[in-house]
Amino acid sequence: MQILCPFDELPENGAKGFRISAQSLAADILVARRDGRIYGYRNVCPHRHTTLDWLPDQFMDPSGEYLQCATHGALFRLEDGLCIAGPCKGQRLTPVTVAVHDDMVVLLSE
Ligand code: FES
Repeated sequence: MQILCPFDELPENGAKGFRISAQSLAADILVARRDGRIYGYRNVCPHRHTTLDWLPDQFMDPSGEYLQCATHGALFRLEDGLCIAGPCKGQRLTPVTVAVHDDMVVLLSE
């Protein structure tokens, strides 16, 4: 189990990136929050395997409804990582297992 951040630091209808490997220069995973639930994914777009964020912690589309890939604009549902528009429509982000323990967001497995 790896502690990522306090639950309060995760914005509602937003997402935050985390470097979990010392070798990484960018966030390896992202954790999104909606309606008090959290969802974790690898920060890798299924289209060209780039990171999703265009700036640190900038994962959402302008409407705040979907995760968006900065490279070609694919949109992904927070709840299940399904791409609903863009060049990888029908593919999914790779989930990681996250949870909230003692008001902290933790990574349980990659
Ligand atoms: S690399 Fe993400 S949509 Fe193309």
